[in-house]
Amino acid sequence: MNTKITLPANSKMLSNDFVYGVATASFQIEGGKDSRLPCIWDTFCDTPDKVADGSNGETACNHFNLWQQDIELIDSLEVDAYRLSISWPRVITESGELNPEGVAYYVGILDALADKNIKAYVTLYHWDLPQHLEDKGGWLNRETAYKFRDYADLISKAFGNRVYSYATLNEPFCSAFLGYEVGVHAPGIVGKEFGKKAAHHLLLAHGLAMAVLTKNSPNSLNGIVLNFTPCYPESNSEADINATAFADDYFNQWYIKPLFDAEYPAIMSQLPVQNHPEIQPGDMEIISHPLDFLGVNFYTRAIYRADVKEHFFQIDPPEPLTDIGWEIYPKAFTELLVSLNKKYKLPPVYITENGAAMADTIVNGVVNDQNRIDYYHDHLNAVHNAIEQGVNVDGYFAWSLMDNFEWAEGYLKRFGIVYVDYVTQERTIKASGLAYKELIKNR
Ligand code: NOJ
Repeated sequence: MNTKITLPANSKMLSNDFVYGVATASFQIEGGKDSRLPCIWDTFCDTPDKVADGSNGETACNHFNLWQQDIELIDSLEVDAYRLSISWPRVITESGELNPEGVAYYVGILDALADKNIKAYVTLYHWDLPQHLEDKGGWLNRETAYKFRDYADLISKAFGNRVYSYATLNEPFCSAFLGYEVGVHAPGIVGKEFGKKAAHHLLLAHGLAMAVLTKNSPNSLNGIVLNFTPCYPESNSEADINATAFADDYFNQWYIKPLFDAEYPAIMSQLPVQNHPEIQPGDMEIISHPLDFLGVNFYTRAIYRADVKEHFFQIDPPEPLTDIGWEIYPKAFTELLVSLNKKYKLPPVYITENGAAMADTIVNGVVNDQNRIDYYHDHLNAVHNAIEQGVNVDGYFAWSLMDNFEWAEGYLKRFGIVYVDYVTQERTIKASGLAYKELIKNR
């Protein structure tokens, strides 16, 4: 048992230029629901049987009120950076103007981070779409992409030079596929004909926002955050290998290929026409706007076999699993980064999320999450291995700073390196948080 997170002595990840951070997202931690417009996750939480524990984001970690103490907490972890997201419905009114109170709230946070020399990595869209936009079709409506551009324009002007890095979207796969195809995330729409249409409008929104950010904030690192679940075949049979390649194109490459190659994967021709995105002339040029960085979120892999009815079938993951049922397989992290680096001409990469849900218990004020320490140790070393194979990784963010609202799982799954008691709102740094801090401090 190693209670430390260690890296090889010569690792680039032990240099002071390598950025270490912690990450959160607005809806998952803020609460403060009365001070903003409703969003699609409020509506989803109010729909019976959508969220495992029937909870919502009304209070969450009460970060809306406790942000000052939370920034002290972040600072105490000795990280270089904090990745946060802006709640669109908090900063933009229904008529499309800035909401001064919402802006002041985030300016306060950004200034407090600057005071402590903590770099702000800001994500503009981490899934909390204003409900009034969903009422007009949400991401199925092309107009939403232009609304996002306008929001990006106003907010980046308001923030001035306070932001070190902007990400347009977080995990458009989740917004599109989980939200508009299988419906397990907000807004809960189901239908194979919707997913790729939503995805296209999300990517269009990204491209439009990139142009605006490049103009308004030329000195920040502007990019996007994508999630990847690398696909592995169950066997070496040709059928399983082909099924796996299809799944990879459908779930992973679909979101990155347009950014670098200005086209969708060729499997488009195998999808029924009614499931295709609605692409207008010029869209792919907008979407493939150059990026200053690519954010990569990694948690697990998936294993596929060929299926007679569908293109692929995902088998149950083998053990070991985290508390959310995801296989722990760090080797896929290295292989993912190396393969992306081969396929695309990548800008500098940041690992914008990586971490694990574990069934934590707090005993006498201590959370001994050795399993999470092991996860971080193995995954940080997997990133190191990718760097050794030529991938240019500039930073790493632990998901998450603290336990929070885990979407359809509610508060049942804990991803934090800090434990949150949701009754008292007390925060306790877990053993993993202390180990992460030691790694950063001892560079
Ligand atoms: C991805 C998402 O960006 C984040 O919001 C979520 O909590 C984690 N992964 C864990 O599922």
